[in-house]
Amino acid sequence: MKNDSSTSKEKRAVYPGSFDPITNGHVDIILRGTQLFPQILVAVLENPKKATLFSTDERVAIIRNIFKDLPNIEVEAFHGLLADFTRSHGVQAVIRGLRAVSDFEYEFQMALMNQQLNPDLETLFMMPSARYTFLSSSLVKEVFALGGPVRDLVPALVEQKLREKFHGKPKSLSS
Ligand code: PNS
Repeated sequence: MKNDSSTSKEKRAVYPGSFDPITNGHVDIILRGTQLFPQILVAVLENPKKATLFSTDERVAIIRNIFKDLPNIEVEAFHGLLADFTRSHGVQAVIRGLRAVSDFEYEFQMALMNQQLNPDLETLFMMPSARYTFLSSSLVKEVFALGGPVRDLVPALVEQKLREKFHGKPKSLSS
């Protein structure tokens, strides 16, 4: 472990995830992150083994569009190990959102594995606004597919893209 005299205020943090699709809960965490770090790098997982509703390019494009007016938020796709991605980008901090106790075990495991893979990497957990603690990408897709309203759950662009993806009518989910 290094005793680095620079503070988090001088660094950027990576916010990794699948973002299939990005929800208002993710947006909330990203904006909270910008209060702590001058730059947030949103890292979108490209995982050929996992079927997603939106392609990697679509997920990256949607998030870039949502934050197009905020130059302190960058968006990139990544594949392979997060520990390698952060190392190659010279980033030492990873932000993850914690919604409930049920998230904790998986997040704890992942943080410790990343620490093992890259001892310089620190994981910071942030709580979203209480109104988003129930929210997940999977639930958004399910609610939308079954004809429920998602207006308050996702950015307007995501609602539009969901409509395009489902051609205006519910269909079975691909993930
Ligand atoms: O939004 P998600 O699906 O909860 O995000 C999970 C993510 C992308 C952060 C995680 O799956 C990840 O970092 N994958 C990259 C592969 C990796 O580094 N695995 C070892 C760490 S456990």
